[in-house]
Amino acid sequence: MKKLIAGNWKMNGTLAANEALLSALAQGLAVKPACEIAVCVPAPYLAQVLNMKTEHANLDMVEVGAQDVSKQTSGAFTGEVSAVMLKDLGCRYAIVGHSERRQYHGETDVLVADKARAALVSGITPIVCVGETLAEREAGLTEEVVKRQLAAVIHVNGHCISEIVLAYEPVWAIGTGKTASPQEAQTVHAVLRAQLKAATEHFAGVKILYGGSMNAANAVTLLMQADIDGGLVGGASLKATDFLAIIAAAHENGQIQKN
Ligand code: PGA
Repeated sequence: MKKLIAGNWKMNGTLAANEALLSALAQGLAVKPACEIAVCVPAPYLAQVLNMKTEHANLDMVEVGAQDVSKQTSGAFTGEVSAVMLKDLGCRYAIVGHSERRQYHGETDVLVADKARAALVSGITPIVCVGETLAEREAGLTEEVVKRQLAAVIHVNGHCISEIVLAYEPVWAIGTGKTASPQEAQTVHAVLRAQLKAATEHFAGVKILYGGSMNAANAVTLLMQADIDGGLVGGASLKATDFLAIIAAAHENGQIQKN
């Protein structure tokens, strides 16, 4: 399966900075890499980024995603953005259940599952994030936590679960410069793959991304792990050279798989 490198810009960017970042990405993507690429950008900039795709042929292969989506379809939900709207704009993905949404906006497992369903129903691929906090890891609860988070999404989405992208993001590794070791990450990814296997016969095709301080240096070994199918990249997706270096690591990996 092709790796997916998805940037998560979080609440960063300006019209000018986005233009510069995407132009630099376009230049760096003159040769099509053997991986899939996406950028998940703040909602106000989705249209800008989608427009830039039409202007730069090299951005053709860069899919665009939102960082959140409403569980509702339309109506009196001030401030919300629906999956229908994202689809209408031309988005491919929406991150759901990022730990920053769970932590700062009180998103529960059930709400995350409903958001994933709203996305799937409208043809948007949800990038569902799961991951344990440092306290949970230290208490030996990592597997229990990620399994509980994924179980809620499986429960609500049934056999459609094979349509999601899953992202394992240990909370203690996000934006901290601390990465899970490739073995630590692989162990959790294998647990998640086994859980998907019990839920769908198409478990092998579900991409499971790793996220949490992924950078050009650690991407190579992380992406070599059997159950790591790509990366959800925060900080390093804001600098074209860093993001391109991670894409290059995924490309190399894709070449090795082919041969
Ligand atoms: P980071 O963020 O790469 O900056 O750690 C990843 C994420 O939160 O998706």
